[in-house]
Amino acid sequence: MGKSYQIAVIPGDGTGPEVIREGVKVIEAAASRFGFSLSLNYFDWGGDRYLKTGETIPEGGIEELKRHDAIYLGAIGHPDVAPGILEKDILLRIRFELDQYINLRPVKLYPGVWTPIKDKGPEEIDFVVVRENTEGLYAGGGGFLRKGTPQEVAVQESINTRFGVERCIRYAFELCRKRNKKKQLTLVGKTNVLTFAWNLWERTFYEVAKEYPDIKPDYAHVDATCMWFVKNPEWFDVIVTDNMFGDIITDLGAMIQGGMGIAAGGNINPEGVSMFEPIGGSAPKYTGQNVINPLAAICAGMMMLEHLGEEEAALAIEKAVIKVCRDHLKSLSAGKMGYTTQEVGDLVAKYTTEDVEL
Ligand code: IPM
Ligand code: MN
Repeated sequence: MGKSYQIAVIPGDGTGPEVIREGVKVIEAAASRFGFSLSLNYFDWGGDRYLKTGETIPEGGIEELKRHDAIYLGAIGHPDVAPGILEKDILLRIRFELDQYINLRPVKLYPGVWTPIKDKGPEEIDFVVVRENTEGLYAGGGGFLRKGTPQEVAVQESINTRFGVERCIRYAFELCRKRNKKKQLTLVGKTNVLTFAWNLWERTFYEVAKEYPDIKPDYAHVDATCMWFVKNPEWFDVIVTDNMFGDIITDLGAMIQGGMGIAAGGNINPEGVSMFEPIGGSAPKYTGQNVINPLAAICAGMMMLEHLGEEEAALAIEKAVIKVCRDHLKSLSAGKMGYTTQEVGDLVAKYTTEDVEL
């Protein structure tokens, strides 16, 4: 008898429940093939519940999450709820309270997937962004002075602690070593202008680098990085950056790997409970139409199984996703796949249980 995992599932808003349904189908298929089991506990947190009850995460909710092996999240964001409420009170609160200090976002172009980057293919687009996930501009420091007057002042502070920066950088070096590709870790920052925060990052980075003589430390400004994602994505192996820059560059990364339909990420606490999610939003206009692409959610499920140590299962899902992209889907965009959301889930689940030759 294989292991059993307790998974907290938060389908969330908009198309979240539809894509999570397909993701669950696929991870269940992998579990039955590879001899482990999943015990899924569903949480109805999100916009609808908030509109009915005024509650985002109910009392004791965070403690309940902590009793699981991992969290599988669909999407948070509702058109009838003011922007910021659900994002801050659900998504960011889980990231912070569970101390998921890494946001791991692979940027990998699968064969047969269209990229807007001319002349670049799967060989050239294959890197990982390690985004710090608990500090920086997201920490919530700042405030107003003289609010509502013509002299109003708004301050939004970027909080960077030696502790937070160092643990993130160490994670990135370890990952780069484990990945064993180019063995190059690029710090992405803005040392030429933001000379306090990025000086701390830079000093920490080169100090820690001394402990990893097998890894080449590299640096790029964030603006130039955006240029190189488009012009020379093959230059990157592993990138480490702060919360805000990581948020921005991973949207660009998602586009060059084929779009939000396939981009997944993990909010990782290496010593605690991690949460996996498609990185696109709740896409409310497609809700209930069975047209949204579930591959991003499926890939998030794959990352979750890999994180739990079920590497064979994760690999089988990846092969199935590659096959579906290569042999089936016309496009990764919602409504243009040539298949419904459910059909894509069925195909990936089926191939996950087979020995796929690529
Ligand atoms: C992301 C999202 C979130 C972020 C939002 C929804 C708070 O854009 O996961 O990248 O800014 O981190
Ligand atoms: Mn984002």
